[in-house]
Amino acid sequence: MKNILVTGGAGFIGSAFVRHMVERYPDYNIVCFDKLTYAGNIDNLLPVDDAENYRFERGDIADRATVSRALRDYCVDTVVNFAAESHVDRSILDPDAFIHTDVVGAYILLDEGRKHGIERFCQVSTDEVYGDIDIGLSLEDDRFLPNSPYAASKAAGELMARAYCVTYGMDIVITRGSNTYGPYQYPEKLVPFFATEAIDHRPLPLYGDGEQIRDWLYVDDHARGVDCVLHFGVSGEAYNLAGENQRANIDVTTRILELLGKPASLIRHVPDREGHDRRYAMSAEKARALGWRRQFDFDAGLEATVRWYQDNEWWWRKIKTGEYLEYYKRQYAERLAAQA
Ligand code: NAD
Ligand code: DAU
Repeated sequence: MKNILVTGGAGFIGSAFVRHMVERYPDYNIVCFDKLTYAGNIDNLLPVDDAENYRFERGDIADRATVSRALRDYCVDTVVNFAAESHVDRSILDPDAFIHTDVVGAYILLDEGRKHGIERFCQVSTDEVYGDIDIGLSLEDDRFLPNSPYAASKAAGELMARAYCVTYGMDIVITRGSNTYGPYQYPEKLVPFFATEAIDHRPLPLYGDGEQIRDWLYVDDHARGVDCVLHFGVSGEAYNLAGENQRANIDVTTRILELLGKPASLIRHVPDREGHDRRYAMSAEKARALGWRRQFDFDAGLEATVRWYQDNEWWWRKIKTGEYLEYYKRQYAERLAAQA
């Protein structure tokens, strides 16, 4: 492994992975390949901007010619695919982009990777492929029951990766991460959205009764998990990267408000997300057997994260303009009016 193409490396988790890899492996060349959609942000990569083993290339993973050129020009031997449309609510409003990137893009990347003789391909996937689970923990061999267009698009990308491994003998590993939080997360997802709204003393639109459960994983632990699977995972296998920190949304929201010294009256129970999964929970045993351990417990991780958004207004204030405000209106105007 020498020349690693990290697709989607300007996003939230991809950029944490790039920062981690650039620092941890000075002998590897890390090339970030990213379309810079609304969620991609070059500011996320400022900490590695001057590093000698880092390059940035703008491109779409669904554009065959650009992908092929990047694989050739950088003599890529390893691909780690973080590139995706990643927000469930947007997939409910407009699924098209999810099919383009998470399905077609993943296929093009695999297909070009095969033609270029890639030595290892890591597909970054999600616990959402298992769907809602009432009790217990999802295991890697459990069946897929994705419920949102986003989850279905990720399941499709993953299944294509599996097919390329079985059919063409490509060396492929898959990670399935749980709900990730931390610095540099686009402020449409629960933690950064609610933290930044609360800083401005604005209402927090909590879907339904707020008792839905998510398993929270700190972003640096997720990045280290992908590193571990990339280096030690067995080809053809998938690995759950579970935070083992299950929390109800209402509790996460209450804690964010406490950390910011804001009142619980900012919480607004609004009409639920369509098809909303009630609970995700996975076993982390298989990744643990490879040597991965999460280092952050949720209480410490959430506090550090909320402080980061308090201290880094320069990063998120410029995002919360233009397209972001259009999206906010589409997603929340009626919901907030309905509960008023
Ligand atoms: P993100 O939305 O923050 O970042 C996605 C990145 O992909 C952006 O930089 C964007 O510009 C880029 N991108 C989108 N379409 C592209 C295309 N066609 N070509 C090239 N680049 C493109 O997402 P994230 O939260 O960092 O998630 C990264 C990956 O991890 C995704 O595959 C997601 O499904 C998966 N995942 C996320 C979570 C989570 O809680 N955020 C949990 C488990 C798995
Ligand atoms: O589980 C892994 C997945 O986690 C990733 O694959 C996705 O990319 C990532 O976006 C995330 O999906 P969720 O839908 O769980 O994350 P989100 O932050 O959108 O929502 C978390 C929970 O909070 C969910 O139950 C919905 C709820 N929520 C979210 C928002 C944005 C609200 O109640 N109100 C909101 O405004």
